[in-house]
Amino acid sequence: MTSKKFKKNILCIGAGYVGGPTMTIIANKCPDYKVTVVDISKERIDAWNSDKLPIFEPGLLERVLSVRGKNLFFSTEIDLGINEADIIFVSVNTPTKMFGEGAGKAVDLQFIEQTARRIKNNSKTNKIVVEKSTLPVRAAEALATILHSGDNSVEFEILSNPEFMAEGTGVSDMENPDRILIGSRDTVSGLAARDILMDIYLHWVPKERLITTNLWSSELSKLVANAVLAQRISSINTIASLCEATEADVTEVSRAIGMDSRIGSKFLNAGPGFGGSCFRKDILNLVYLCEYYQLNEVAAFWEQVVSINDYQMERYVKRILQAMFNTLVGKKMAVFGFAFKPDTGDTRDAPAIYICKRLLEEKACLKITDPYALDNARNDLQSIEGKKEFIEDPYKAVEGVHAIALITEWSSYKKLDYRKIFEKMEKPAFIFDGRNCLDHQALYKIGFNVYPVGKPELSHL
Ligand code: UDX
Ligand code: ADP
Repeated sequence: MTSKKFKKNILCIGAGYVGGPTMTIIANKCPDYKVTVVDISKERIDAWNSDKLPIFEPGLLERVLSVRGKNLFFSTEIDLGINEADIIFVSVNTPTKMFGEGAGKAVDLQFIEQTARRIKNNSKTNKIVVEKSTLPVRAAEALATILHSGDNSVEFEILSNPEFMAEGTGVSDMENPDRILIGSRDTVSGLAARDILMDIYLHWVPKERLITTNLWSSELSKLVANAVLAQRISSINTIASLCEATEADVTEVSRAIGMDSRIGSKFLNAGPGFGGSCFRKDILNLVYLCEYYQLNEVAAFWEQVVSINDYQMERYVKRILQAMFNTLVGKKMAVFGFAFKPDTGDTRDAPAIYICKRLLEEKACLKITDPYALDNARNDLQSIEGKKEFIEDPYKAVEGVHAIALITEWSSYKKLDYRKIFEKMEKPAFIFDGRNCLDHQALYKIGFNVYPVGKPELSHL
């Protein structure tokens, strides 16, 4: 039951990268709602209740501290939370299934199903259940079937409300979203539930930015948004390889096409490939859906976005190999950045994992540095054989190395003293700027052999 002090009780199941930050913003913006975030992992919940949050996201800690214990609570009491809640957000992980039917493509729905059964078993009053995790199209149907099975007379209304925030900019994305998407059934109770969810967002989001659709459009839109964003990156990465083969410069091409208002300038930065927990997973999920409906040409089109990404990561490694005389055996290399993008410690599906694995296979000795992701990097490379060190200070990481591979464009890397770094390195010194974020002419003048992405190299050799 809602305590007198609060208008409604919100529960979020899953205190991860999505659940934790979204609920923090809702609690900050809606002091009249009680927001409880629960998880099966005690370690995660303890971290959310400490000053060292389980995830790094700029601006998040301040916002947690301003409401924690007032209207934001983190707990492992899942059953109690379900019983008390009016609205339940489901934000558990939905990884790619790695076994059986659909292995490698379909979403593994076991955590969602476990959560649905738990909600059903602990609900004594009617509830709105909101899909926040990215789910395959028509997942709401499966959720509703489980919730309404058996002799439980409680009514559940399912809504789809996908989260579009990007890591590293999560707080500002949620405080000032381009749009909030809510999918519901077109029934009296479906539309009433939708309005209750809209009331929450209307605390800070202008009405014209709230979009309402049917459930399936909402579920599909999330997959398509990520697929289209990833497709832009793969598109520009293919052009980067063409630029390297000719004398064109991919940054100039991106700028020239991006100024066309129909194309737009965002997500046209060539790099070593995209990473993160969403892009690959969501595209493969889309591919699986298309195959399921026997739309094989459509499936092949989207699958190519992922294939090009794999090709791009491998191309980055091949460029290193070729530049360094086709052997890395025993050579020391500093890896600048392991997180899948700056301003996060998240390394899920980071290009650095694949690239480091390949460099280790070539028997390079790696000195990996990253401001926030070294613990995750250690775990990710745990089972990979080879010489690897994890060093916080980039100046220490470059001591005696033959090359620097910059994989993540942390702003701190742009401010380093590259003259000092050059002096600490073996010669000839190479730098492979996978993100085109450094001053290449200045590095060349210092004496580096510079290999950007999608541009001719600047070499003294
Ligand atoms: C993405 C979506 O942007 C977000 O809307 C959704 O909710 C979750 O998935 P995220 O994975 O956090 O967000 O990061 P994003 O900024 O999209 O970057 C993904 C990857 O693409 C990163 O590895 C990034 O380095 C890479 N990227 C991005 C490029 O290589 N070039 C670009 O121009 C942009
Ligand atoms: P996302 O990026 O989608 O937020 P995460 O892996 O960061 O994914 O977070 C998902 C969270 O959901 C994890 O903290 C995990 O422990 C939690 N979780 C998974 N299954 C359940 C469940 N059945 N009940 C409660 N929490 C769960």
